[in-house]
Amino acid sequence: MSEEKIYAVDPAFAANAHIDAEKYAAMYEQSVNEPEAFWGEQGKRLDWFKPYTKVKNTTFDPHNVSIKWFEDGTLNASYNCLDRHLETRGDQVAIIWEGDDPSEDQKITYRDLHERVCRFANVLKAQGVEKGDVVTLYLPMIPEAAVAMLACARIGAVHSIVFGGFSPEALAARIEGANSKLVVTSNYSLRGGKAVPLKANVDKALTHAGAKKSCEKVIVVKRVDKETEWDDARDVWYDEAVAAASTDCPVEEMEAEAPLFILYTSGSTGAPKGLKHTTGGYMVYASMSHEYVFDYHDGDIYWCTADVGWVTGHSYIVYGPLANGATTLMFEGVPSYPDNSRFGRVIEKHKVNQFYTAPTAIRALMQQGEDVLGDSDLSTLKLLGSVGEPINPEAWEWYNRVIGKGKCPIVDTWWQTETGGIMIVPLPGATAAKPGSASMPFFGVQPALVDNEGNEIEGAAEGNLVIKDSWPGQSRSIWGDHERFTNTYFSSFKGYYTTGDGARRDADGYYWITGRVDDVINVSGHRMGTAEVESALVAHEAVAEAAVVGYPHDLKGQGIYVYVTLQAGFEPTDELMKELRNWVRSEIGPIASPDLIQFAPGMPKTRSGKIMRRILRKIAEDDFGALGDTSTLADPSVVDELIEHRMNRK
Ligand code: PRX
Repeated sequence: MSEEKIYAVDPAFAANAHIDAEKYAAMYEQSVNEPEAFWGEQGKRLDWFKPYTKVKNTTFDPHNVSIKWFEDGTLNASYNCLDRHLETRGDQVAIIWEGDDPSEDQKITYRDLHERVCRFANVLKAQGVEKGDVVTLYLPMIPEAAVAMLACARIGAVHSIVFGGFSPEALAARIEGANSKLVVTSNYSLRGGKAVPLKANVDKALTHAGAKKSCEKVIVVKRVDKETEWDDARDVWYDEAVAAASTDCPVEEMEAEAPLFILYTSGSTGAPKGLKHTTGGYMVYASMSHEYVFDYHDGDIYWCTADVGWVTGHSYIVYGPLANGATTLMFEGVPSYPDNSRFGRVIEKHKVNQFYTAPTAIRALMQQGEDVLGDSDLSTLKLLGSVGEPINPEAWEWYNRVIGKGKCPIVDTWWQTETGGIMIVPLPGATAAKPGSASMPFFGVQPALVDNEGNEIEGAAEGNLVIKDSWPGQSRSIWGDHERFTNTYFSSFKGYYTTGDGARRDADGYYWITGRVDDVINVSGHRMGTAEVESALVAHEAVAEAAVVGYPHDLKGQGIYVYVTLQAGFEPTDELMKELRNWVRSEIGPIASPDLIQFAPGMPKTRSGKIMRRILRKIAEDDFGALGDTSTLADPSVVDELIEHRMNRK
């Protein structure tokens, strides 16, 4: 192993930080030894209509997984993000919106945002949305996305955001799966100067019987002044509806465990699952982690470059920052438009203090050279963050040197859609950073490593990363399928929450995430189930069998490598390869587009017919010197054929 570098905490930073090393140690200890007292106190960061008297009521027992926090309290997430700030910060900017076109931006104060949310909440009600109904949001990064989230929360509706890059088919499955009554979309989205027809995707999704049955109305934001197909009986223009709506909308009093949102994510098997997050615990955790991890202070300008279609956008663009009365920046565009200096230009223009992005974006900038951000003034930056995949030490060093100018702590945040908020992170005023390590647990989080039999391993070791006890931000269930929730997360290693990640713990107790241990791959920070891509492929008439694995990719972290066995009568041509690639794009979305496709006359299978993915993975990784035991293969000659015709990774 290469020598590990360590970056000590800057004492000047620590002196002004919410959490220094001493506080971290004391608070962490209390958070795990006296969770009731710790979280009982932290819960007070929110405004409750009815205060809670019970704090924690959780069990990971696989016969009865049940997770409840603050269960007898009542509150409203929209109230906590908006109403309670009006008196003290009504005129403060809540959201800075930076458009795809650099000449377009908006500054939305807490008062404006409150008004917009109230109006849209009334629109939802007028369209028949009631407490407990699921509203699907299929929107680009425009203020209306945050408005719609908070409007749902205000009236007790549950939002389910579907990333705008997903295909009509993927959208249809999510609308149907959540039995969603209404979809909010925009006619087009604008990215890198190009208009993408989002509404047309919704129209197509709603030709699927199941989605059509549940969805009654589509509300459409006019993002681009372009002709839009229209169904008078179903479609409603956003602008017209809000113009006619009242600005007065009382909030619903919600139980702490009432669902706030569903968010679909990929697993190792089956269709994507809708993870359910509830109100009280999630909001406490999002608010606290946003404040402490980013060391957010009043008046700071905070920018997270994620999309609201992912959990990072939920917790760290909208709910966490707004609960804290922060100014949060929302960016519609891409880092390469109008040119590669865009991130720098935005940081300079809005005087950004905290910047939170993904390793894949850092690597893309890094490829452009040290002067990629031009002469942008980055001097306002105080802290940098990373999320979505392990950050390789080279990218960490570059981020530190070129963006942070060596003076900004970097918080490498490990967490998941399931965890609701950041779980492992070097707190900037408390924990010395080791490039590439997510390092230490956040408050209330008890990570552990277990071997494949579920035995806990102590000390410096590598194993399956599990979490020993509940934390308030944790997902409560899979929408409509608690059994799947239990099976996926609580049955492999009894008594623990199974993360699906592997990790190494070093002698200092730092955690180093080594990647997924299941059949999930991470492409540019987007999580994807290989089974999903496989089932899209076998739905094509030419494909008899498909196996999908990840392989190391310089920019994306992992790329998608596909092995395809064709049906008799189909020829392995370049055209077919192209067609299959487009097929996957249209079935799932551009993020699932295979990087490499190898036509394989046969797959390496055991005698019982199971594909040996381990071997396919090794070949895709160009690591076929170490294939391990192949003696159980039904036909070992298949392997030589696969190696001979493997795809060139360069
Ligand atoms: O494998 C881990 C990786 O991303 C997975 C979670 O993906 P998702 O639910 O889409 O959420 C992404 C944003 C929170 C994890 O199981 N991952 C995320 N952050 C890191 C990471 N791997 C290493 N280091 C990280 N900082």
